[in-house]
Amino acid sequence: MGVNVQTVSPFTSVTIAAFPLFSDLTPMSAASADRYAVIGNPISHSKSPAIHAAFAQATGQAMTYTTLEGPLGQFAAAVDAFRQQGGRGLNVTIPFKLDACAYATDLAESARAAGAANALKFEGDRCYAENFDGVGLVRDITHNLGQAIAGRRVLLLGAGGASRGAILPLLAQGPDRLLVANRTADKAAALVQEFIDRGASASVLAGGGFDALGQDRFDVIINATAASLSNLGLPLPSSVWSADGLAYDMVYGKGLTPFLRTAQQAGVQRLADGVGMLVEQAAEAFVWWRGVRPNTRPVIDQMTVPLN
Ligand code: ATR
Repeated sequence: MGVNVQTVSPFTSVTIAAFPLFSDLTPMSAASADRYAVIGNPISHSKSPAIHAAFAQATGQAMTYTTLEGPLGQFAAAVDAFRQQGGRGLNVTIPFKLDACAYATDLAESARAAGAANALKFEGDRCYAENFDGVGLVRDITHNLGQAIAGRRVLLLGAGGASRGAILPLLAQGPDRLLVANRTADKAAALVQEFIDRGASASVLAGGGFDALGQDRFDVIINATAASLSNLGLPLPSSVWSADGLAYDMVYGKGLTPFLRTAQQAGVQRLADGVGMLVEQAAEAFVWWRGVRPNTRPVIDQMTVPLN
C-alpha cells in the first residue's frame, strides 16, 4: 500500500545542510545529506527540527531533519515509506510511541521498560528503538542543574508514560529512595511492582497515593503528571519540600506552573521546567545517530522561557 509521507508545511519543516568548514571540499547538497524526521500527529508545533538543526550546524553534520505527520492508524506504512526514501532515523512523539515499540526489530532496555520508544534508527532491515526521555531528564538534573540524585530522596509524581520512562534512569543513579506518588494510588503501586518484579529494590522504590506521603521530605521532586498542562496544582503536603532541593516540572514553556509556584512558596530555591529534558533527549538521539555529542547549553538557553 502506498502511503504518501510528506512534511507538514514548509514553515514547520526545517531542512538543513551543514557544510564542511573548509570550502575547498565539495559542499554536500540537501539531496545527499542523511535524512531524519520527527513523526507524530499533530506535529506542526514540534521543536525537534529547530533543535536538531542547531545541533547539526554546530557539529558540522550533513543531515536534514523535518516533521512527518503520520496518518492515524498507519504508523508502520508511514515509516516504511520514509525508509524507502532513504530515511536514517526518526524521533517519535504522540500518539505513536507504542507503535514505534511494536514496529522495531531491536528494543533497547530503555524502550522495553518504558513500553514506548521515542527514537528509531534504521540499518538495513533492522530497526533499533530507544527511549531517551528518562536519560534526558536525568542528564538535565545532574549535569545541567547540578543536583545529585545518588543517595538522595526522590519523589516522582504521576504514574503514566512520562513517569514510567523515568524510573530506570533515576534508579540507575542510586537514589536513597524513589517514591512514585499518583492521584490514583493503585496505578502507582502497580507501576512500581512491575519494576520490583524485574529486580528493582523494594527498599528503594515504592509507590502509592498522594495521601501516603505523610511527613516525608524529598531532595528532588519531579512532576510527571499532566496536571500542569491544565494549569492545575497537586495536593502535596507542605512537608515534602526541601529548601536546598530541586522542584522539576516536565512540562516546558509554561513559566511558573502551579506545581513550581507551590515549591517556590515553600522556599525551594531551585526550580526547573522540562526544557532541558527536551533538549537533552534530542542530544542523546543525535549522539546515537551521528556519533557526535552536541553542546546543549546554547540551545537550552535559546529555548528557555523565564519561570517568572
Ligand atoms: P503521560 O503519558 O504523559 O504520562 P498519561 O499516561 O495520561 O500521560 O498520565 C497522566 C498522569 O498525570 C497520570 O499519572 C494522571 O493521574 P491518574 O493516574 O490518577 O489519572 C496524572 N494527572 C493528570 N491530571 C492530573 C491532575 N489534575 N492531578 C493529578 N494528577 C493528574
